[in-house]
Amino acid sequence: MGACGAVNLTIRVNGQTHQITSDPDTPLIYVLRDELQLKGTKLGCGLEQCGACAVLVGGKTVLSCVSAVETFEGQDITTIEGIEATEVGRRVQDAFVKATAAQCGYCTAGLVVAATALLTETPNPDREATLAALAPHLCRCGSHPRVLRAVTRAASG
Ligand code: FES
Ligand code: FES
Repeated sequence: MGACGAVNLTIRVNGQTHQITSDPDTPLIYVLRDELQLKGTKLGCGLEQCGACAVLVGGKTVLSCVSAVETFEGQDITTIEGIEATEVGRRVQDAFVKATAAQCGYCTAGLVVAATALLTETPNPDREATLAALAPHLCRCGSHPRVLRAVTRAASG
């Protein structure tokens, strides 16, 4: 335990291991953005209500704005910067570009992460499953129809 309750933690992000010193209760997003300079993950509401802060943990979507960094020790975290490491992630990213599925782009990283998690687990989801996976992700610009097209395009390969 260091000053102000900081502890040494080891986290693995985008295939790289990082030793950090942090208050164990710090939400993961602050470590990603401020310590590791991975600015692609966006902070929106900070209350698990908008989906902007989504990252993959063990292949599942996790909202990084509330959960304490210490709970992620020893787990594989993937942020938008590492999403193209998998074939599905590359396909989703490409489909978002081709469908111009972003306007301001603030929600986009979270949506790409959610779509990658969905298509990794369910390669050909039906519309209901796709809508359910995207539902936690708000888009103030109204890009959802294009996002849906992008996910459909990525699913069909
Ligand atoms: S910033 Fe995490 S859900 Fe909104
Ligand atoms: S593209 Fe602006 S919030 Fe979604």
